[in-house]
Amino acid sequence: MTCFSFLFGRRVESSSKQTSEVNEEVSSISKANQYTYKELRNATEDFSAANKIGEGGFGSVYKGRLKDGKIAAIKVLSAESRQGAREFLTEIKVISDIEHENLVKLYGCCVEGDHRILVYNYLENNSLAQTLLGGGHSRIQFSWRTRRQICIGVARGLAYLHEEVRPYIVHRDIKASNILLDKNLTPKISDFGLAKLIPPNMTHVSTRVAGTIGYLAPEYAIRGQLTRKADIYSFGVLLVEIVSGRCNTNTRLPVEEQYILERTWELYERRELVALVDTELNGDFDAEEACKFFKIGLLCTQDTPKLRPSMTTVVKLLTGEKDVDDDKITKPGLISDFMDLKVRGPSKIKSDINNTSPGSDSLDVSTLSSGTSTTCATTTFTAVYDRSI
Ligand SMILES: Nc1ncnc2c1ncn2[C@@H]1O[C@H](COP(=O)(O)OP(=O)(O)OP(=O)(O)O)[C@@H](O)[C@H]1O
Ligand SMILES: [Mg+2]
Repeated sequence: MTCFSFLFGRRVESSSKQTSEVNEEVSSISKANQYTYKELRNATEDFSAANKIGEGGFGSVYKGRLKDGKIAAIKVLSAESRQGAREFLTEIKVISDIEHENLVKLYGCCVEGDHRILVYNYLENNSLAQTLLGGGHSRIQFSWRTRRQICIGVARGLAYLHEEVRPYIVHRDIKASNILLDKNLTPKISDFGLAKLIPPNMTHVSTRVAGTIGYLAPEYAIRGQLTRKADIYSFGVLLVEIVSGRCNTNTRLPVEEQYILERTWELYERRELVALVDTELNGDFDAEEACKFFKIGLLCTQDTPKLRPSMTTVVKLLTGEKDVDDDKITKPGLISDFMDLKVRGPSKIKSDINNTSPGSDSLDVSTLSSGTSTTCATTTFTAVYDRSI
């Protein structure tokens, strides 16, 4: 055997081994976690409008009762979110293997013909966007203790995705509508790993990219640098929202109060952070701890990504295992600083990426189309992003 045939032989062997591993993975999910289209149609009464509980960037969500009696949230992916059955199943396998107290459980999926449907554990108390930030129509009272638990729970869920899952997962879309609450108000992060279900061959597709403008780290919005630090920035914004009970952007407020981070920084500098705590608490909160949470929000949203703490550190800061060092807090990356950006062409973005030094975190690309009017929890933007890079 020549050296080449020896090498070639080994390569064939290892690639066929890899293929059979993928097949095994796919068939292991087939057995336990696949639903037929008919089964999900029955569960949702033919995807009736009455059972529809929401709609997001990837498709519509229905409430349904499965054959085994379990109540599920059934997410029907829109046409552009679909990809080949094999790739889809491989990604689903990764997501459905992930279990954590603070992450929404994926029960399984349906892959039949063109249908791509995800079946999740149903959470009784909706999302933080609809309850805490939803304009006062919720029956849920968010006490200081509950808010504290929610902040710590979300931080633990995100720390798990960032630091325990291998390979780690960048969520890309941490925001109030992706934090769901169970019957005990335990927070569960939803939609993690979803970005990977978008077909990889979709290049330069104009789509609704992950992210609501006020949650976006400047380096992600401007240069398309997507790392765990961008998630940490979004978490910081969410943290400030939970303690203040206010959406990150509210154009109905006086100009100087419209962007919550700007306001938080201003009040921090004036040592008046306590004024930002939600008045719905009627003064019934631990002022020192609430101000500490705002400061952690500021640490997470610093303009320089490297200065933002890891999620494990954030958990320790929130629980008091570690002290917050005021000297480490620098100015946040502010949304208003990049609101005037114009849309840039993909070629420019590519050259930016080429100029970025490689790091251990992955990169993704987006351009920002701004100038949109911003209202509570609804602002999204259109982005052009190139999955081929
Ligand atoms: N597992 C679930 N249990 C209960 N309700 C859910 C569940 N998943 C989603 N929902 C509801 O469906 C709505 C739509 O969810 P979806 O994830 O499609 O959109 P979104 O989170 O608002 O936006 P995006 O697509 O950007 O994530 C949510 O806001 C929530 O109210
Ligand atoms: Mg969602």
